[in-house]
Amino acid sequence: MSSTTLYGGASHRRVTILDLKSAKERGEKWAMLTSYEQMTASIFDEAGIPVLLVGDSAGNNFLGEENTIPVTVDELLPLTRAVVRGSSRAMVVADLPFGSYESSPEQALATSIRFFKEAGAMAVKLEGAHLETVKKLTSSGIPVMGHLGLTPQSLHQLGGYKVQGRTDGDVMKAAALDLEKAGAFAIVLELVPEELAREITASLSIPTIGIGAGAVTDAQVLVWTDMAGLTAKPPKLAKAYRNLRQELTDATKEFAEEVRSGTFPAAAQTFH
Ligand code: KIV
Repeated sequence: MSSTTLYGGASHRRVTILDLKSAKERGEKWAMLTSYEQMTASIFDEAGIPVLLVGDSAGNNFLGEENTIPVTVDELLPLTRAVVRGSSRAMVVADLPFGSYESSPEQALATSIRFFKEAGAMAVKLEGAHLETVKKLTSSGIPVMGHLGLTPQSLHQLGGYKVQGRTDGDVMKAAALDLEKAGAFAIVLELVPEELAREITASLSIPTIGIGAGAVTDAQVLVWTDMAGLTAKPPKLAKAYRNLRQELTDATKEFAEEVRSGTFPAAAQTFH
């Protein structure tokens, strides 16, 4: 970037992992949002969000699944392609869905290559400390974002959406250091006690991205539908900055009412 901040400056090239490293070095915090299609991708991109995550949270927030587990590579590929097409500055990160990377580093590489070649992703994210896989991907030219704490693909193993690391924080700290050593360029910390997130953030030279981890991480991520107030029952960790659910409901009712009363279309929308 020609500027000294991720958000400012005249540069219109995509944000890279080197820009994120520099941001950590100068203490600049940044925001990441999920996006699942081109419309929100272009809005968030223009608003200056430097990293867009095509999360497997598309499962429950876009595809109507109960959780992230059923989402497939074939479902996420077109969503990722749309987010890449809808943006011009943000780095687009593709979430590797459950079952597409755990078997072996080779399986993870084959899946990541699909996201790179077929969708134009610039990095992948995977849950847990799969160190050999991270080494394999990064040595093949694929930047990897890690994800520790509450890893929703392990929902059944963890016994629910619970805060992680309260009693075994040292294990998470070690995993974070191992991920950095293996080559990860950033790590999401989800539902982690603030003090543990602070210690992990201080111990790493790569950025941490918090969600339910306090204000101590280098960056913050939210699922966009939670951020915008579209989600019917948002999780406690989220903040709704607007009430788009209400706005959309009101707009929809108004449209239907105008059709019923015959006031839409008016002269402005009529052709002669
Ligand atoms: O899929 C997702 O949206 C995520 C974020 C919550 C980090 O993994």
